[in-house]
Amino acid sequence: MNEKIIVLGSNGQIGTELVMNLRAKYGNDQVVASDIRNSDNAVINAGPFELANVLDKDNLHKLFEKHRPTQVYLLAAILSAVGEQKPKLAWDLNMNGLIHILDLAVEFKTAKIFWPSSIAVFGPHSPRENTTQFCVMDPNSVYGFSKLAGERWCEYYYTKYGVDVRSIRYPGLIGWRSEPGGGTTDYAVDIFHQALAKGKYESFLSADTALPMMYMEDAIRATMELMEALAEKLTIRSSYNLGGISFTPAQLSAEIKKHLPDFEISYADHDPRQAIADSWPKSIDDTYAQNDWGWKQKFDLGSMTADMLENLKKQ
Ligand code: SER
Repeated sequence: MNEKIIVLGSNGQIGTELVMNLRAKYGNDQVVASDIRNSDNAVINAGPFELANVLDKDNLHKLFEKHRPTQVYLLAAILSAVGEQKPKLAWDLNMNGLIHILDLAVEFKTAKIFWPSSIAVFGPHSPRENTTQFCVMDPNSVYGFSKLAGERWCEYYYTKYGVDVRSIRYPGLIGWRSEPGGGTTDYAVDIFHQALAKGKYESFLSADTALPMMYMEDAIRATMELMEALAEKLTIRSSYNLGGISFTPAQLSAEIKKHLPDFEISYADHDPRQAIADSWPKSIDDTYAQNDWGWKQKFDLGSMTADMLENLKKQ
């Protein structure tokens, strides 16, 4: 099939890398990047681009009519830290943006939809270690419960209307091509930039806060592998757990020190993001992703750190 793909939220941390990889696979003209603002990023501007606000359903309708997409990736969202500052907007954007796209997928019979969920769907009463696909989920951030509700909508549209929607609960994502935007796991990207620029970093999370993280290359590959998997193999239509690499700021800093021996880390006293991190799992069980679509992670803490530093230095 000749694919026509729209990536909504193309200018963000995941979008930038996904557009690049999708264009490499399907051709520049087949992948329409779309965001609320124009971008000065060469990757985004290497192919078609459309301005769109996912809260504007009429405009989205025109976009679907014009491009008749076979695949849509809805990445526009407000993340955990910013969500706590703008709770109603986060709910509105994260929820109604998704429902608009699911409705348009029904109307236009879009073959496949991708929508990202997050480790933020878990909460203080979820198991903290090797958190399983199905367990107690009581997220206490607006971002977290918007993602959990979104997962329920995805499964609902799959069951009721046959929308082939696929989703991953991403761990914190770490990449060198794009900056994260307002999450709790952002420290794990900032630390690399500051280590190279200043030789030191003040972490807003405490030394021993373990969180699941993933290198962007693995995350993009996971996304594309899930989207290419045969529909009948997929047993999860809410969102798949994905394990990634679990580490603390202290462990990441020790790994960076192997490359930059003078690097120093310090820790901020009070940061609202600490409470969010403390409600999330330390590590994730991704047996379903392994069994259903053959997921295998490539990067560990060592190889990720080396690759990040090497690429940021070149930049
Ligand atoms: N990385 C995101 C955040 O910190 C979680 O999905 O908000």
